[in-house]
Amino acid sequence: MEISENPEVAEISLPLPIYTSKVIAAATAMGDEEFEIVVGLEKSSVEELKKHALDENDQELQKNTTDKKRFGENSYEGWYGKNRTIFGLIHKKTGALAAAVWFGPEPLAEKLGEWHTIAYRSYKPFRGKGLMKNFTKFAMRIYSAKHPGVRYWARIVPGNEASKAIASFLGFAVTENHSNDSNGFIIMTK
Ligand SMILES: CC(C)(COP(=O)(O)OP(=O)(O)OC[C@H]1O[C@@H](n2cnc3c(N)ncnc32)[C@H](O)[C@@H]1OP(=O)(O)O)[C@@H](O)C(=O)NCCC(=O)NCCS
Repeated sequence: MEISENPEVAEISLPLPIYTSKVIAAATAMGDEEFEIVVGLEKSSVEELKKHALDENDQELQKNTTDKKRFGENSYEGWYGKNRTIFGLIHKKTGALAAAVWFGPEPLAEKLGEWHTIAYRSYKPFRGKGLMKNFTKFAMRIYSAKHPGVRYWARIVPGNEASKAIASFLGFAVTENHSNDSNGFIIMTK
C-alpha cells in the first residue's frame, strides 16, 4: 500500500473529540483502489465497527477478539473515554471501513513504565489483501510521535498467524514470561 501523508498531521492533538474524524493520509492498494486513512471515526464508521463486532459469520473476528463485548454490547463512548485513539482505513469508492487500528494506555501486569496497547482489525472484503502492515505501521508512527517514550504490547490468540506477522513486522517480539498465561494469550511487546 502506497501512503501519502497529509502534512497537517503534526498539528493534530490526539485523541480527537468523540465522533470527529480527520483525514491524515491518502492511500492506494489492491491495484488502483483508493483509500483514506483517518484518525477518529465518524458515527457512521462506528456503526460499521459495531456491526462487524456482532457479525457471527466472521469466525476469525469472534475467535480472536472480544469485540462483540467491546463494541457490540458495551458502549463505544465508554471505550473511547479510556483515552483510546482509533485510526480507520476507509475505502474511498464505497465509504466502507476496511480496517481499523487503535491504541491506548494500559498497564502491562508487573511491568514498570508507561505501556500502551495496540489492536487491529481488517474487514471483508478487505481482509487478506496485504493492507495491514503498512496501514498499522503508518498509524503507529503517528501515534508514537504524539506519545514519545512509551512501550507497546499486543495480546494475540495462539494460532493467529496473520496477527503475529503484523506484530513482528511492527517490531514486536513475544515475551515468554507474559505469554501462555492463565488466559492462554501470547503477549508481544515493543
Ligand atoms: C489479523 C488481521 C488484522 C490480519 O489482517 P489481514 O487483512 O489478513 O492482513 P494482510 O492481508 O495485510 O496480511 C498481513 C501479513 O500477514 C501475513 N499472513 C497472513 N496469514 C498468515 C499466516 N497464516 N501465516 C503467516 N503469515 C500470514 C500476510 O502474508 C501478510 O504479510 P505480507 O503483506 O508481507 O504478505 C485480520 O485477519 C483480522 O482482522 N482478523 C480478525 C481479527 C483479529 O484477529 N485481529 C487481531 C487480534 S490480535
